[in-house]
Amino acid sequence: MKMDNDIANKIRSKVDIVDIIGERIPLTARGKNFFGVCPFHEDTHPSMSVSREKQIYTCFSCHATGNVFTFLMNYEHMDYKEVLKYLGDRVGISTSGISVTRKTSKYDSWYAAYDFSLKYFQNNLNSNIGKQAREYLSKRKIDEEVIKEFGIGLSLESRDDLTKLLTSKKYDLISLNRMGLSNDNYDIYRNRIMFPLYDTFGKVVGFSGRIYDNSDQNKYLNTKETEIFKKGENLYHYHIAKEECRKEKSVIIMEGFMDVIRASTIGIRNTVALMGTALTKEQIALIKRLSNHIILCLDGDDPGQHATLSIGDTLLAQGIEAKVVALPNPEDPDSYILKNGKERFENLVDSAIPFSDFKIQKLKEKVDFHSDEEKAEYINRVLQETVKIEDTIRRELILKRLANEFDIGYNTLEMRMNSLLTEKKDIPKTETVNLPKKEEKKDKYKKAFEQIIYFMLNNDWMITQVEKEQLVFPTEVMRATCNEIIYYYKKYGTINIADFYTYVQEKENIVEFLNSILASSYLETTNKDELFLYFKVAREYNQKEEIKRLTNLMKKEMDPIEQAIIVEKIRKLRLGDSEK
Ligand code: GTP
Ligand code: MN
Repeated sequence: MKMDNDIANKIRSKVDIVDIIGERIPLTARGKNFFGVCPFHEDTHPSMSVSREKQIYTCFSCHATGNVFTFLMNYEHMDYKEVLKYLGDRVGISTSGISVTRKTSKYDSWYAAYDFSLKYFQNNLNSNIGKQAREYLSKRKIDEEVIKEFGIGLSLESRDDLTKLLTSKKYDLISLNRMGLSNDNYDIYRNRIMFPLYDTFGKVVGFSGRIYDNSDQNKYLNTKETEIFKKGENLYHYHIAKEECRKEKSVIIMEGFMDVIRASTIGIRNTVALMGTALTKEQIALIKRLSNHIILCLDGDDPGQHATLSIGDTLLAQGIEAKVVALPNPEDPDSYILKNGKERFENLVDSAIPFSDFKIQKLKEKVDFHSDEEKAEYINRVLQETVKIEDTIRRELILKRLANEFDIGYNTLEMRMNSLLTEKKDIPKTETVNLPKKEEKKDKYKKAFEQIIYFMLNNDWMITQVEKEQLVFPTEVMRATCNEIIYYYKKYGTINIADFYTYVQEKENIVEFLNSILASSYLETTNKDELFLYFKVAREYNQKEEIKRLTNLMKKEMDPIEQAIIVEKIRKLRLGDSEK
């Protein structure tokens, strides 16, 4: 572990957190620090500060804090090892020999059960029993390679084959029910083609089973929402899209996972699928992380077009104008690619139009152009959409087109648009400014101890002083943090917050505590007189606590001589107190 930590520190010291975060969210310099909109909570104001000097980031609003590793882990949904490799490659430090102690999770046995089920389903498909299912897949032009790549399998007609296998492997029925694999002692999935569903890290956390022999059931059956499979916080293919979207600098959103699978067969992999649910705000956050260049490629039927309008509007309200690929009704990407091939689909994606233009087109479809009233209504609606467009050239083009189409003076339209623009500016922003959270009223002792720990992370002298004074910290987590700081300092001979973060990353209570103190505003000083002031408060606390302890002890003490000794101790402590 020590060697790994050394490599991690070496990598960390060679990258600048300001560059890494700056490549992902716009940062502006203000004073010593850089500020940007925090990606870890919903916000439009720059509440996240990034310090080049300390190599950490801190959000004053949601208290997300950490070093470059934690930023990438949270932002890119990578695990620690992936982050080390990504940054190591970037600065030319090999990470191949690194063994990272994997965080064990209480769900490890769940993951193992899904992995086992995955292999079981795959075996079924390959066996004799899978013949009909294989024929179905082949009819749908899903070949061997795709079956392997996407882990496609088959559940059996039998009522409890998988449940029996898993219970023989020491899984109990209660767990299997919670995992969404069994219902009572029966298999949930029977006679369906099985598609594994992955979490954002690429672990199997569920399945979607499709009927294939025209039985009159629901087309797809998905694993229910479980403790590790939160549907609204997941997107199909996300773990693959992470890498691909970075390369392609765009993300394509599709409706079904068959669409994603089909696109993959023609080499398009910067895709995610919604899987039949409405887009949640967590999913939007996930998508925004993949790329700011979002391409909507939903089905060409009415529901698909409807969803396009709704998702496009949501994104626009968040300042992102998506592009829209218009598929002919009623094709979906899967059927379109099958009918028209790779090149024509690629051309279609390349000719995606800005969302506002798409919306204006859609508005037009409903207008009865014999009625002046409807025409006026349409023009007004178009103008309302136009003012949402930032690009003034595009706005002018739209006005010109309208003017020609309806034989209306350009100036009339421009005047109307300008008054809408002023209205828009006048509307008070509904979101309130996220000021740094008002410092909760912490008592002066707690604050002093926290400030001392904060100094310990920046200042060698403080560490020695805490040791010398044998300061006792009032809470368990403070004591643990203090011990780790001292230990780290002795081991490495120096300390900085960014590397200390890496060192304690597995200790959740310490990380949480560090986050809370780093997100509060603390003094930056190296003036020893000022530092001593905090010690004075801390000592006062230690004395008070000791007096409390002794007083309790005295009350319980029966022996008058012992009692007198304690009283004397208390007196001395009080005296020490008043001397200060
Ligand atoms: P195929 O008919 O196999 O080509 O699927 P598709 O990709 O065309 O799916 P469709 O457009 O009908 O639906 C899009 C997504 O909605 C699918 O990928 C599923 O995740 C989900 N979905 C569709 N039908 C059902 C259903 O009956 N139950 C559930 N739970 N989800 C469904
Ligand atoms: Mn389809």
